[in-house]
Amino acid sequence: MTLLEVDRVVVRFGGVTAVNEASFTADGGAITGLIGPNGAGKTTCFNVISGLQKPTKGKVHFQGRSITSSAVHRRARKGIGRTFQRLEAFGSLSVRDNVRVAFDIHRGFRGVLKPGAADVEALLERVGISDYAGERADAIPTGAARLLELARCLACDPHLLLLDEPSSGLDEAESEAFGALLRELAAEGRGILMVEHDMDLVMNVCDTIHVLDFGEVIASGSPAEIRADARVQQAYLGYSDEPVREPMEAQA
Ligand SMILES: Nc1ncnc2c1ncn2[C@@H]1O[C@H](COP(=O)(O)OP(=O)(O)O)[C@@H](O)[C@H]1O
Ligand SMILES: [Mg+2]
Repeated sequence: MTLLEVDRVVVRFGGVTAVNEASFTADGGAITGLIGPNGAGKTTCFNVISGLQKPTKGKVHFQGRSITSSAVHRRARKGIGRTFQRLEAFGSLSVRDNVRVAFDIHRGFRGVLKPGAADVEALLERVGISDYAGERADAIPTGAARLLELARCLACDPHLLLLDEPSSGLDEAESEAFGALLRELAAEGRGILMVEHDMDLVMNVCDTIHVLDFGEVIASGSPAEIRADARVQQAYLGYSDEPVREPMEAQA
């Protein structure tokens, strides 16, 4: 089922066209990758989908309805959750309390029961950060902080997860566990749209991949099709196996 449809979206910042007539979809129950070189427009697409950035042109549909002009909080309420490339947890709170707060916010606005301690612990366990539960969120390793972002996102029980470079900071074993967790989340019927530079992870877990280059979708297909695409190799896969560090950028 098509959960998300980005339809000919254009985003211009002054003279810079960050996203240029980009169209792509993401399905429920599947993992979709959005890849491309630094500056290709990936984070800007996420901002358009989550409502932080108004597109210059084009539309976004979620569950068959236009959300192009919906406010950020309305999209969140409809079930769009996201993590940020820059980490957004409350630094002075413990890892456990960060997850508890995310549950509180979610259940509070739906007017349901407060989370039990068991829910919080189960989610910490599920994403693999139980060992850090009592530590301050600003004192844990980057990989664990990314998993905390994911836990906070999952506390809201999203239908669609937008993950912006979720695996940076994870070591190889953690990355593998993370890939397995993503597959589990998709098997629950959630849609996952992921921006990620770790090509092993992308090629191993994604069902479909869209490639952005200078704001345009230059290829869409299965991992095998993307790997074999000459334009993609030239634009992206060919030039480096190393993830390129991104500059600090405005995301909100
Ligand atoms: N808020 C902004 N103001 C001006 N230019 C921006 C802004 N955000 C992004 N850009 C520019 O848009 C282009 C796409 O950026 P971005 O979406 O962050 O790319 P990616 O996430 O693929 O690295 C880049 O040229 C970037 O410099
Ligand atoms: Mg980015």
